[in-house]
Amino acid sequence: MKAYKLNPGSGIESMNLSECLAPVIEPGKILIKMLSWSLNYRDLLVASGQYGSGLPSPLVPVSDGVGEIVETNTELNGFKIGQRIALSFFPDWKESLITASKTKSSLGGTKQGLLAELVTCAPSEIVSVPTFLTNEEAATLPCAALTAWNALFETTTNLPEKKILTIGGGGVSIFALQFAKSAGYKVIAISRSMHHLNKLKELGLDEGIESKNNPKWGDTIRKSAFGEVDHAIELGGASTLPQTIRATRVGGEISLIGVLGGSGTEFNPLPIIMKSIRLQGIFVGSIAMFNKMNKMIEEKKIKPLIDCVFKFEDAHKAFEYMAKGNHLGKICISM
Ligand SMILES: NC(=O)c1ccc[n+]([C@@H]2O[C@H](COP(=O)([O-])OP(=O)(O)OC[C@H]3O[C@@H](n4cnc5c(N)ncnc54)[C@H](OP(=O)(O)O)[C@@H]3O)[C@@H](O)[C@H]2O)c1
Repeated sequence: MKAYKLNPGSGIESMNLSECLAPVIEPGKILIKMLSWSLNYRDLLVASGQYGSGLPSPLVPVSDGVGEIVETNTELNGFKIGQRIALSFFPDWKESLITASKTKSSLGGTKQGLLAELVTCAPSEIVSVPTFLTNEEAATLPCAALTAWNALFETTTNLPEKKILTIGGGGVSIFALQFAKSAGYKVIAISRSMHHLNKLKELGLDEGIESKNNPKWGDTIRKSAFGEVDHAIELGGASTLPQTIRATRVGGEISLIGVLGGSGTEFNPLPIIMKSIRLQGIFVGSIAMFNKMNKMIEEKKIKPLIDCVFKFEDAHKAFEYMAKGNHLGKICISM
C-alpha cells in the first residue's frame, strides 16, 4: 500500500509518497480503506515543527479522513464491513471532560495519521458519518467541525439566544457560522476579504466587517446596530484577541481556538477582568461530541463548504494551496 510520510520540522518538502507493507490487523483492531481526507492548518504546523514536540519521525500526516471498514480482527460494536466511517482526532477521548491522558494521542500528531491507503484502529475510535454527505464532505468533520461544535454547544454556557463573533473565512469559522445559524443564533464575522464576507452571507451570516482596513473592528462591532457579542469564536490569536475582547460584552465568553496571527508575547489581562469575560480554551472534542454533532448535521442537512479537492497523488499541491491561505472552506484530498 502507499502512504505519505514526512519529518516534522522539515516542512512539506520532506513529504514523500512511498510503498509500504500493508498494516497488520492486530487483535482488537479493524482495517480501514481510506477514501477522502481534509487538511487543517494544524497539518502545516506539524510539518513545519510548530506543533508540540516529540512527534514520531517519519510521520504519516493528516488527522481528518473517512474510509470504509474492509476487515476486522474483533467485534465491530454495531459497525458493519463496508460501512463508511470517520476516525476521531483524539482516539482516546471517548466522552466526558478533557484530560491530559485523553488528549495525549492525536492522529497525524503524536500518533501516525491517515494520509495512507490503509490504516488500522479500534472500533471504539470511529464514528459513522451522515449518509447524505459525499466522502470529501464527511472528511471535513473530525477536527474543524468538531472544534466549532465543542466551542458553541459543549464547553460553554448554553443560552437560548446568542450573538456570536467568528474570525475569517477558514474551516472552523465556517462550521461555527453554519452550526450557530442552525441553532437560531445571530452571527457577525470579520474577514480580511470582502469576497469571503459575501460568500459567508450566502451561508446565513447576519453581518460582516472588513478587518484589513479597519484595525479597530472590535470597536466598530461594539458601536454597530449588531452590538457587542455574547460569545466569540477566537481564531486569530495574538493579532485579533485585543479587538475580540473589545467586541465581547461584559459577562460574555471567548472560546480560544486558533493562532492564525501568531501566539504573541505580550498580553494585557485587565480588560478581561474588568469585563468579567470567560476565556475558554477549546481542543477539538470527544467521540461522544462527534456523534452528537453528526446527529445535528444529519437533522439539519448541513453541507460542509469545500474549496477544492486534490487527487491522492497530488497531496503536496493541497498542502501548498493551504499554505497560500486564499482558500474559502475546506481543502480535501480524494482517492
Ligand atoms: N483548538 C483546536 O482544537 C483547533 C482546531 C482546529 C483549528 N484550530 C486552529 O484554528 C485556527 C483556524 O483553523 P482553520 O482550520 O479554520 O484555518 P483555515 O481554514 O486555514 O483558516 C484560514 C482563514 O483564517 C483567516 N486568517 C488567516 N490568517 C489570519 C490572521 N493573521 N488573522 C486573522 N485571520 C486570519 C483567513 O480568513 P479571511 O481571509 O477571511 O480573513 C483565512 O481564510 C488555526 O490557528 C488552527 O490551528 C484549533
